[in-house]
Amino acid sequence: MSNVNNNAEHNVNEVNNEKGRRSGNGFRFFGNPKLRKSLRILWNNPKLVINAVYSFFVCLRFFGLKFYKFPAIVDFGSKIRKSRKARLEIKGRLFLGGKYIGEQSGSCAYMKLPRGASCLIQGRVKLGPGVRVILEPGASLSIGDNTYITASSVIHSASSISIGSDCAIAWGTTILDTDFHRIVYEDGKQNSISKPIVIGDKVWIGCNCTILKGVTIGENSVVAANSLVYRDVPPNSLVAGNPARVIKTNINWSV
Ligand SMILES: CC(C)(COP(=O)(O)OP(=O)(O)OC[C@H]1O[C@@H](n2cnc3c(N)ncnc32)[C@H](O)[C@@H]1OP(=O)(O)O)[C@@H](O)C(=O)NCCC(=O)NCCS
Repeated sequence: MSNVNNNAEHNVNEVNNEKGRRSGNGFRFFGNPKLRKSLRILWNNPKLVINAVYSFFVCLRFFGLKFYKFPAIVDFGSKIRKSRKARLEIKGRLFLGGKYIGEQSGSCAYMKLPRGASCLIQGRVKLGPGVRVILEPGASLSIGDNTYITASSVIHSASSISIGSDCAIAWGTTILDTDFHRIVYEDGKQNSISKPIVIGDKVWIGCNCTILKGVTIGENSVVAANSLVYRDVPPNSLVAGNPARVIKTNINWSV
């Protein structure tokens, strides 16, 4: 009788082990369910491990002893090129290049901070794959908490660009605060080559927009897809077109 019981118990254990094996549970020795879950995620996504190692070295290089806080999570292949005389301050966490935001591009993200440039990240900021942030010497960029910029957008500054908190900037958008070249008009006037751009809090910029020098976009406004903005946008308004015109006022939008 006891032999029969032992056999039954043995069979139950076998079935349980087989279930464990089939569900891919290779971590049943770790008692903590959270640890087990994290390990399973890493096991199923080996790229996360590569990104973690890559981010470790990037953080070690740019943030010295503060590397252990992982101020930047950098997708493998995405690059930060920073001069020793440039400033990169992250008060939160910068996600650079990962697929977690915007899958419209497969390429790597890139940040260039030459001598005298300054970049301030104030909170959790996500820059998607293919995003290029290029600052000229002496230029400055600040991005607020909970703002994300999706695939293949370009931010190019020779003066200053400030982007508020809770902004959503869709793929293919270009934010450019400089003309690069001088124009002399018939009456002798000249264009002012660079002027700062200010984008307020909770601004949504649709895909493939262009925001030019000197523009201030008021908080809670929306820029419709494919618009070109070269004049200020009042707060709480929807602008659209090329050149962008105010289409609606007193709007509100939600994520
Ligand atoms: C801004 C947007 C959300 C507005 O949508 P909506 O509220 O349904 O607006 P409607 O289609 O009713 O258009 C409202 C007015 O704006 C105009 N308009 C809307 N989008 C426009 C555009 N991209 N260019 C020019 N005019 C535009 C319309 O002609 C219309 O004008 P009218 O009232 O004189 O007829 C939408 O136009 C848009 O751009 N969507 C894309 C968003 C995007 O890029 N998302 C990426 C992920 S974040």
